[in-house]
Amino acid sequence: MKIVSLVMMAAGGASLTSLAAAQSTVITQNLQSCIGDGQFQLGIDYFPNKFTPRNYSPIFLPEDQANLDITTDFLEIEYFDYYKIVTNKYHNKTYLLYQCGTVPPMEEVFSGRHHMVLPIPHKGGLAITETPQIPPLELLGLRQEIIAYIGDPQYVSSPCLNYQIDELGSVETVFDPEDPWNSERTQELTDEFLSRHPEAIIFGGIFANASADRIMGVAETQERTTVATFDWIALYAALFNLEERSNEIARETEERYQCSSTNARSLSSDMEEQDRPVVFWAGYFEGYNWSVAECPTWDHTYYCEYASHCGARIISRPEDMGIQDEYGYWYLNDEEVLQLGKDADIFVFSSLFWDTVYEQKRDVLDQFKAVQNKNVYDTQGGGPTAWYEQRLAEYDVVGNDFCAMVGLSNPYQSPPHTIKWFRNVLTGSVPEVGTCKSPENLDEPYVPVGAFCAPLEQLGGPDEGGDTEDGETSSSAPVTFSCLAFVAASFSIKQLW
Ligand SMILES: *[C@@H]1O[C@H](CO)[C@@H](O)[C@H](O)[C@H]1NC(C)=O
Ligand SMILES: *[C@@H]1O[C@H](CO)[C@@H](O)[C@H](O)[C@H]1NC(C)=O
Ligand SMILES: *[C@@H]1O[C@H](CO)[C@@H](O)[C@H](O)[C@H]1NC(C)=O
Repeated sequence: MKIVSLVMMAAGGASLTSLAAAQSTVITQNLQSCIGDGQFQLGIDYFPNKFTPRNYSPIFLPEDQANLDITTDFLEIEYFDYYKIVTNKYHNKTYLLYQCGTVPPMEEVFSGRHHMVLPIPHKGGLAITETPQIPPLELLGLRQEIIAYIGDPQYVSSPCLNYQIDELGSVETVFDPEDPWNSERTQELTDEFLSRHPEAIIFGGIFANASADRIMGVAETQERTTVATFDWIALYAALFNLEERSNEIARETEERYQCSSTNARSLSSDMEEQDRPVVFWAGYFEGYNWSVAECPTWDHTYYCEYASHCGARIISRPEDMGIQDEYGYWYLNDEEVLQLGKDADIFVFSSLFWDTVYEQKRDVLDQFKAVQNKNVYDTQGGGPTAWYEQRLAEYDVVGNDFCAMVGLSNPYQSPPHTIKWFRNVLTGSVPEVGTCKSPENLDEPYVPVGAFCAPLEQLGGPDEGGDTEDGETSSSAPVTFSCLAFVAASFSIKQLW
């Protein structure tokens, strides 16, 4: 009954405004505050800024798949004048977000189909449960909306979030330090947290119970490409009416990502398939043995995509090699790993403890060409565990890095690209994650370093302005770069960390 009377009020509010006023009201930007009493007008689009999913066309695909547009599969946002319906197709959940100061349509509210009905811009605080949820919020300047980290915060790499947890106490941690992996205990503490913050939203990953109270499912890791994975930044943005910003960030990030691929393609346009750099990607798990890349198709996992992106070849586990554990993961023994990877140019060791494994298996590992040539990398170049937190949000930087690692990045870029995420385990050290650079200004959006990519351009030569698409441009054409000033200007770096 209470809600019904609110509907009457909203309708009454609308009828109070004169037709002339209604006609003159134009909303040009999504609102950052609530609509005031009596201000609501029916028939106005309160969300002029809408999520535009990326349509990603990888440039490296063969001719018959060129112009393939790959969009974001599991996130959809439908816009109505004063409310939006967010659909997470992975968890099969919808969320009704309505402009605060309006009353959402009752047939939607009572349909029972929406897991949450939320006024936006959201006010009740955010709780995160997985580290990859941190960077999208930081990129949007929403760091201070985070009020809790549910789980053990020891793997949080963000210096500013750690500052909020450790120094400011503005982000509480919800877990039992005595029993961090006890999910029942964590649930109890979560319920207790929700009793104090009933309006908070808890982001849950793919294994979360998306039916649980106040959980909003995030399934970015289920997307097919790195571009679509990143596009989930729109989910966070939609809660704060920041779609214009998230669209812009997503577009610019994709442009930088495409730049490193375009450069790698020009630089390798004359390469025969067998001359392309070969990457061996493998991790080691004590008690299980070696886990090796599986790339039956370029989009099977993110490292397959990066290899294709940079014009490299990646060694994929042959179907009949290794043994499978009870969860379906495949493991190779030392002999198999040696047979498969010994001639690779580059070895990416995807686990954390190269030194320990090398000590144990020196006789095997020393037979690898990549070890002999000191071309072994792990993923700790941004700090011990930052990779797991940030690689999804910095896929453009990772793309730049991968291409540089395989020797196919713009050699003329100034300043040259410094590989951030891949650390040479034989010559480099693991950096500290650093301190929060701007603790007095925590809402300053985070801007990743190393994202800059200067496009190479083919100048002169017979194919100028012509067939760069099919990779037949003459490599003797002088290579230079253009648009450098433009890219630099549009990417004024304000490094915070
Ligand atoms: C998805 O959710 C809707 C309603 O919440 C339900 O009716 C439908 O059966 C679900 N679909 C699947 C595939 O689980
Ligand atoms: C998920 O949450 C719902 C709602 O709280 C609950 O009924 C259900 O039992 C939970 N499922 C699991 C597997 O915990
Ligand atoms: C791991 O590999 C070693 C040597 O290659 C082998 O002796 C051992 O049985 C393997 N372990 C498993 C669990 O497959």
